[in-house]
Amino acid sequence: MRVVVSGAAGFIGSHLCDRLLADGQEVIGLDNLSTGRVENLHHLQDRAEFRFFRHDICEPFQSDGRIDVVYNLACPASPRDYLAAPLETLAACSEGTRNMLELALRHRATFLQASTSEAYGDALVQPQSETYWGNVNPIGPRSVYDEGKRYAEALTMAYHRERGADTRIARLFNVYGPRMKRGDGRVLPAFLDQALRAVPLTVFGDGSQTRSFCYVSDIVEGIVGLAASDEATPVNLGGPDEITVLELAKVVQTVADVDCGVTHLELPQDDPNRRQPDIAKARRLLRWEPEVDLRHGVRLMLASYVE
Ligand SMILES: NC(=O)c1ccc[n+]([C@@H]2O[C@H](COP(=O)([O-])OP(=O)(O)OC[C@H]3O[C@@H](n4cnc5c(N)ncnc54)[C@H](O)[C@@H]3O)[C@@H](O)[C@H]2O)c1
Repeated sequence: MRVVVSGAAGFIGSHLCDRLLADGQEVIGLDNLSTGRVENLHHLQDRAEFRFFRHDICEPFQSDGRIDVVYNLACPASPRDYLAAPLETLAACSEGTRNMLELALRHRATFLQASTSEAYGDALVQPQSETYWGNVNPIGPRSVYDEGKRYAEALTMAYHRERGADTRIARLFNVYGPRMKRGDGRVLPAFLDQALRAVPLTVFGDGSQTRSFCYVSDIVEGIVGLAASDEATPVNLGGPDEITVLELAKVVQTVADVDCGVTHLELPQDDPNRRQPDIAKARRLLRWEPEVDLRHGVRLMLASYVE
């Protein structure tokens, strides 16, 4: 197999490259390094089966030779990153996704779009299954990401229906693990960073809002499994267990063995209240099940921060 991974220098993209290379596949990594880091790929620089191109997916990409799968992960993903670059985020989701779809179509390759639980917005149903259409503020500050990803899904389905593209859509819920930037603003890197500095963990609102976390190796298995399936409609991939942000703060303090307390800040606009995937579809179609327990995963992530 010869595959393209866009967003290869990012958190999930770099783990996906590792997984595909371990499987004996040849990987072409694309990234414009806007939010990713080339250090995430340093360990691959001597691998003959890996090639990296500093490339913005908003420009078309030409490749020699055949391509079997295009994994499209390139997009700012942390709220801090996409709120700082709203137009770039919309461009990655629109022109960028279209360029990656065209690349896949030219090579008759499978195309996989990394979508997000943010497509459900501030969900009014619990847990969220793929049949739920979502509750998204289309003009709020977060809409560049939520609506951008919803547009990318619509574009993917249009290429599938009208152009016969072989497509997949993975709706990823909160993913965590090594290589998340300590300062990227997402809750687990932020908590771990604060725990390591022994300062109070910042909780937005009263901390009763929930998230469901999934360790990166589990997500990568789900992504690879979905690409190998023939399911064109969206599939949720995420940890099925819901936890409040306050409970998560306790887990982090226990794992880091610190008692630094929490401070509360005002909840950001349109912050989702509850977030929990229904993963019945992934279980049924892909025989996929997350394996890494939250405490173990947090321990691995903490260890990577103190290496
Ligand atoms: N991490 C999560 O919890 C999560 C949850 C849901 C969905 N996702 C999706 O998974 C993908 C990867 O997320 P991540 O957490 O690894 O984020 P990340 O920021 O670490 O990785 C994204 C990568 O895309 C690159 N990129 C951004 N715009 C680009 C462009 N125009 N051209 C080329 N490269 C570009 C960045 O430089 C970065 O390396 C994203 O599409 C994100 O929306 C992530």
